[in-house]
Amino acid sequence: MWRSCFLVAVLTGSVFPVSGFSNGKVTVSCGDMMPRHGVVPSPAPPPFNITVDTASFTPGDNITVTLQEASSTPTYFRGFLIEARDAGKPNSPAVGSFLLTDPQESQLLQCGHTQGSAVSHRRKSKKTRIQAVWEPPKNPPQRVQFLATVLHEYKVFWVKMEGPVVSLHGATAAPSTPSTPAPPPTSSAPPLSEPFSSAGCGLSKSCLRDPVGCHPESDPACFFLSFVTDQQGGSVTFELSGPAEGYLAFAPLSGQMDGE
Ligand SMILES: *[C@@H]1O[C@H](CO)[C@@H](O)[C@H](O)[C@H]1NC(C)=O
Ligand SMILES: *[C@@H]1O[C@H](CO)[C@@H](O)[C@H](O)[C@H]1NC(C)=O
Repeated sequence: MWRSCFLVAVLTGSVFPVSGFSNGKVTVSCGDMMPRHGVVPSPAPPPFNITVDTASFTPGDNITVTLQEASSTPTYFRGFLIEARDAGKPNSPAVGSFLLTDPQESQLLQCGHTQGSAVSHRRKSKKTRIQAVWEPPKNPPQRVQFLATVLHEYKVFWVKMEGPVVSLHGATAAPSTPSTPAPPPTSSAPPLSEPFSSAGCGLSKSCLRDPVGCHPESDPACFFLSFVTDQQGGSVTFELSGPAEGYLAFAPLSGQMDGE
């Protein structure tokens, strides 16, 4: 019998506050857009919506994306993560890149290879509306969908909300009508109890694995430790999992960990 134990910690300097990502540097969530907050997404309908100012685009266009409250009862959000993806492949990497229109409240992230391919919050202030401009990549997919994870409060959030689809201008068979929204998958958002993933090892994060090259998502005997240092080098995010009767733990050997 084994029990696994997952630990996510954010180290700022050499202190140890498990403070979450109030600074919005959430590249660890680029892929699944899932906050590492120890709770599952809210089952309620999201009180926010995503809109764009066009239904079709050509490379070189600027598309304004708006995330805002869409509720009869006023609400707000503190955190968010917005990406654009190939509409036919919701699990594929983010495409295109964003420009900020509100640098006080938003920042660009690098998801995958493209700098600026996601936008996130900058601080945990209460927001009701945020905009950013999306620029298509040089070779865009025929249809692009905007997706957003929105945090109302630390433990109340919606993951990978499906926004509008925009079609490459002149693309054939492009159902650009908003009356055909892609069905459910908000319910497919994985709960946090899922194992960490080896995806991104060596690219977006550094990983230690035993046995070498094992996959924590499929191999219960895999000891897995990964860490990501943010660009400023101010914080390090760890993922630690493995077979254990009790719990797994680690400690930084000294007060400092080297960033890059
Ligand atoms: C898109 O926005 C950028 C930055 O504001 C600007 O330099 C560029 O000219 C704009 N492109 C179009 C087609 O409006
Ligand atoms: C999004 O919400 C705003 C109100 O905040 C509303 O005016 C708009 O019609 C909504 N758009 C969609 C597509 O639901």
